[in-house]
Amino acid sequence: MAITHEDVLDALRNVIDPDLGKDLVSLNMIEDIKIDGKNVSFTVNLTTPACPMKAEIERACINAVKHLVDEEAVVTPNMSSKVTKSRAEGQGDQNLLKDVKNVIAVASGKGGVGKSTVSVNLAVALAQTGAKVGLVDTDIYGPSIPTMFDIHERPNINTQRKLVPLEKYGVKLLSMGFLVKQDEAVVWRGPMVSSAVKQFLSETDWGELDYLILDLPPGTGDIQLTIVQSVPLTAAVIVSTPQTVALDDARKGVAMFGKVNVPVLGIIENMAYFTPPDLPDKKYHIFGKDGAKNLAEKMGVPFLGEVPIEQQLREGGDSGKPIVVEDSTALSSKAFTELSQRVAQQVAIRNATAEPTEKVEIQYR
Ligand SMILES: Nc1ncnc2c1ncn2[C@@H]1O[C@H](COP(=O)(O)OP(=O)(O)O)[C@@H](O)[C@H]1O
Ligand SMILES: [Mg+2]
Repeated sequence: MAITHEDVLDALRNVIDPDLGKDLVSLNMIEDIKIDGKNVSFTVNLTTPACPMKAEIERACINAVKHLVDEEAVVTPNMSSKVTKSRAEGQGDQNLLKDVKNVIAVASGKGGVGKSTVSVNLAVALAQTGAKVGLVDTDIYGPSIPTMFDIHERPNINTQRKLVPLEKYGVKLLSMGFLVKQDEAVVWRGPMVSSAVKQFLSETDWGELDYLILDLPPGTGDIQLTIVQSVPLTAAVIVSTPQTVALDDARKGVAMFGKVNVPVLGIIENMAYFTPPDLPDKKYHIFGKDGAKNLAEKMGVPFLGEVPIEQQLREGGDSGKPIVVEDSTALSSKAFTELSQRVAQQVAIRNATAEPTEKVEIQYR
């Protein structure tokens, strides 16, 4: 019997997206089914190119068609993606950044915990999967992106009088550090900072972006709160070290986003442990063990993963070469790649489960 379009769809109704808990056909992920004798091909549009389940879903599609339609079918799924979009309602200006599908803030209570390091490597790792990514350094008092990308130019202005972001490693970049001199920045006060951030976000030609990462200034005070309220955020991730002092501040970070109804995607534990290169089986928990993991559990937010302390990571940051570009075999590099997948996964879950018309409440999961 000839294989039909309906046969293939019916078979794929049995393949469930493990994150979203629904089948690929109801999720509208299948298109472009082509049948030529025993050859069956179709496109599977995942919710992110960084989907960690890609290989598993591909295998499940092949198995479903072979087992339920025809054992001899030659099945070729074309694994593609369409990043989903969602915005927290009633928060920020909805026209601001309207071609940006997801705006993700990276926050920490304390400075020096690795927030910029995480932002940079997260952005580059997402771009490496083929996603369209932007990164904004909103830390006017201590901008890190110029150094971490080794870019020190001023962005150009186009004919529409918009700023053109600089681009490196596939990421569109903007830093307060490109625009404001360090010795001028120190006298800026909170309201000036937040209005400048809003202005440079809206007056930049970002084009279409799947993910825009905002590296927030450290802390949970007025500046952070105003930035968070003036930008249409999809969600936030919190970076902490396992130390008690950092954790106390991370807790305040989770609470701050709760106040403005921005979902917290989860907590990242940076500087989680140290493995000496000559003792690859050892793990030293220099700043304590599992502190951020336990905090995530206690606060009911997902734990997104841990990044080890690594000299190479620090050196890459100082010389403008993110570790995910420099050495994909480094422990921290692998950690960031997994982390970027988990963040993209949590964004997709949130976009699929949050009611777009309702005010989004903080999601403790
Ligand atoms: N996991 C890590 N291993 C080694 N060095 C790190 C790690 N995370 C951050 N660093 C270094 O610590 C310093 C502070 O990190 P940074 O990302 O600038 O923190 P923040 O943005 O939170 O102030 C930087 O020099 C950075 O290279
Ligand atoms: Mg920083």
